[in-house]
Amino acid sequence: MQNEIHPYYQEQDVVPFIQSKGIVVQCWYPLGGRGHTSELLGNETIAEIASAHGVSPAQVILRWDLQRGIVVIPGSGNPDHIRENLDLFGFELTAEEMKKIRSLDRNEKHDWY
Ligand SMILES: NC(=O)c1ccc[n+]([C@@H]2O[C@H](COP(=O)([O-])OP(=O)(O)OC[C@H]3O[C@@H](n4cnc5c(N)ncnc54)[C@H](OP(=O)(O)O)[C@@H]3O)[C@@H](O)[C@H]2O)c1
Repeated sequence: MQNEIHPYYQEQDVVPFIQSKGIVVQCWYPLGGRGHTSELLGNETIAEIASAHGVSPAQVILRWDLQRGIVVIPGSGNPDHIRENLDLFGFELTAEEMKKIRSLDRNEKHDWY
């Protein structure tokens, strides 16, 4: 099941429900979608967590998805970004950091398909 999912639109009830049926959730617009990425990548909470792990805000968001058991599909035409977006397995977000990102939810959808 593919759905829009990012820290400002988390689908907190929908994701565990779909997963409880044995269905894999994939997320599109993980970084907010084009035109919205600066809001998410510039978020203070995400930037603080990134700094604590020595990674980028994009990596924090993508790692947060993986730790929720969600397959993540970031879009990029930049080879440096693509390499960065694959480098998600050398750090782990703490339960407290996961909770902080959870608190950023605004039910703010950026597109309709
Ligand atoms: N199933 C559906 O209905 C559906 C709907 C929408 C989208 N999608 C798919 O979902 C995927 C993602 O969508 P999207 O690309 O529109 O949104 P996105 O992944 O949220 O955002 C992509 C934007 O983030 C930038 N970016 C990527 N990695 C970055 C990094 N490490 N640091 C800084 N900026 C970074 C990209 O710029 P650069 O190119 O400069 O890296 C691009 O502007 C695509 O494959 C798309 O086809 C599916």
